[in-house]
Amino acid sequence: MPASSRRRLLVTSALPYANGHIHLGHLVEYIQTDVFVRFQKLRGHDCVYVCADDTHGTAIMIRARAEGRSERELIAEMRGAHLADFAGFQVDFDHYGSTDSDANRERCGAIWRSLRERGLVVGRDVKQLFDPKAGVFLADRFVRGGCPRCQAADQYGDACEKCGATYGPADLLDPVSTLSGATPEVRSAEHLFVRLEPMQGFLQEWTRTSGALDPRIANYLTGHFLGEPLRDWDVSRPAPYFGFEIPDAPGHYWYVWFDAPVGYIAATEEWAAARGGSWRDWWHRGGPHEPPAEIHHFIGKDITYFHTLFWPAMLEAAGLSLPTKVRIHGFLTVNGEKMSKARGTYVLARTYLEHLDPASLRYYYAAKLSGDIDDIDLNLDDFAAKVNSDLVGKVVNLASRTARWLEATGLAAVYPDDGGLFAQAAAEGADIAAAYEACDFARAMRLVMAAADRANAYVDAEQPWKLAKAGPAAAGRLREVASVALNLYRQIVVYLAPVLPTLAAETAALVGGPIRSWDESLRPLVGLPVAPFKPLARRVESSQIEAILAASLATSGTAAAAPIPSPRPAGATAMSADPADPLAAEPLAATCTIDDFAKVDLRVARILAAEEVPEAKKLLKLTIGLGGDVTRTVFAGIKGFHEPAALVGRLVVVVANLAPRQMKFGLSEGMVAAASGAGAPGVYLLSPDSGALPGMRLH
Ligand code: 2FM
Ligand code: ZN
Repeated sequence: MPASSRRRLLVTSALPYANGHIHLGHLVEYIQTDVFVRFQKLRGHDCVYVCADDTHGTAIMIRARAEGRSERELIAEMRGAHLADFAGFQVDFDHYGSTDSDANRERCGAIWRSLRERGLVVGRDVKQLFDPKAGVFLADRFVRGGCPRCQAADQYGDACEKCGATYGPADLLDPVSTLSGATPEVRSAEHLFVRLEPMQGFLQEWTRTSGALDPRIANYLTGHFLGEPLRDWDVSRPAPYFGFEIPDAPGHYWYVWFDAPVGYIAATEEWAAARGGSWRDWWHRGGPHEPPAEIHHFIGKDITYFHTLFWPAMLEAAGLSLPTKVRIHGFLTVNGEKMSKARGTYVLARTYLEHLDPASLRYYYAAKLSGDIDDIDLNLDDFAAKVNSDLVGKVVNLASRTARWLEATGLAAVYPDDGGLFAQAAAEGADIAAAYEACDFARAMRLVMAAADRANAYVDAEQPWKLAKAGPAAAGRLREVASVALNLYRQIVVYLAPVLPTLAAETAALVGGPIRSWDESLRPLVGLPVAPFKPLARRVESSQIEAILAASLATSGTAAAAPIPSPRPAGATAMSADPADPLAAEPLAATCTIDDFAKVDLRVARILAAEEVPEAKKLLKLTIGLGGDVTRTVFAGIKGFHEPAALVGRLVVVVANLAPRQMKFGLSEGMVAAASGAGAPGVYLLSPDSGALPGMRLH
């Protein structure tokens, strides 16, 4: 590619919080970004993908306390887990940093100085809610109460999900700390604010004219924020807080959302320094490097205003480059609903990887992502059907039914007449590339599958298996037909390479070597050897999906215990602000009424029989007696923590009126109450005092 058309792109995904594991909701964004980056690299552009763990804030501090260890020990462990999950899904960062790094501290300091110099920092006392039981000031997300504008109950401390109002936690009606359940006290402490109103003109202009935002987003910002004076942004938190102490304000720390986006720059700095370069080549305006770098941020819609108001204001104040594009995606639902621990659809990355190929999810997400902010649904039946029909039935099938005829002879020396099929798909490459560029991967996948349909129709019409049976007389034609089919297959794989890197690598080993450039879709291969065919993709079986759901249910402890709602519903967010990590100490659930509670029929029960479910990692099958001759079968996620034989005769507490659920191993007719979490590894069954009898109701 001529140097003049070689673009320089810096691409980021939102930094995942270090207090939660990566789940399928997060992966929408990382897979989307990774596909975009791989596409740009395949096109020959200079593209760098950076990300980092988002490590600071109250949530980490509270969890580390609950687990009796330091925050740094905790974030180091989570980093390892995040990196393993990303590697498992082939999300290939050029650099993965941490917001708790020296580089980030320095970059934050420099931006802070710019804000100060421009007179944009002001201090004033803030009444903040303090949890007297936990001994901490409460982050917005740890307080719930009534919305001060529309009075909707049970809202977070920063924004109302009903009417969209934004406010401070102290404004909530009847607030409750989700950390301890205590009623928070209002305490006064000094906070530092960034004045955004002086940036109003700039933000108006940038949101509307820069081209960085979809017009729908620009309209949303105008309607919700830029149509009225901008409120100052509270960027400091008083001790105790896990983060960076503000150099010129001892005892005050930068709020996690101040140092998190700066992590994009710090990660660039670490990446560039390792190559003898400078972050300034990517973030400084009008530097010597031509063309100037494009900056593409991929985010979920829940963090739009951080990236489209606060972040550009910080960059503008510091004289740094502004985002070229903020690419915003919607939330993930599973089977049409929010991800749910109780339904087993809160699936962690590592749980998925224990059962299925990452390529299947990468392809399915690509086929769903159209570059807009609409939510995407992972319908599990559709997922299996689509992967099996498209990847296995259309793409891989092309190679699996033709490559073997070429093992002995290699590809034909001259590309045969294929009726214009290769040329047609080559001409469509520009359209497919435009779809990738617009992040309309769904369209790209449709175009590619249409090419695969045409190629399969060719094979069906030419019937190479009949030519093979016809013996030496048809050998020449067989070689021609198989050469066409394998070339059409490889061309399709070039187009799919950003989505399916493993398929691309395995195809490279089959014929033609590594796929290094998009332009390899333009010319057919001739005269090359063809390696023995090895299976390239596996079908998604419904038993694998069931196993994932069962394992997710068991991991979250919900087969054994009623779920404790997370502080922010997992499925409601692409990157949940306080992801509900099943390994973390869970904040207390929002209040429920006595009537809500009365709906749950909790009974004392006796375990009459207990046996292992050999195919399930976490499940025991229990037969429980509820008094008289009423018995039930319950699958409980307690395997490994309890010997089946030792359970027989034990009294436990069960949810007796839970709707029966069909699991892979049988019907589960209730739930045995057990405790887990708070950093301890076990699953602890609840038992009544001695003297209690099966069938007694809890109240
Ligand atoms: O919402 C989240 O999960 C945040 N951790 C994202 C931070 S993105 C960036 F600004 F750092
Ligand atoms: Zn409201």
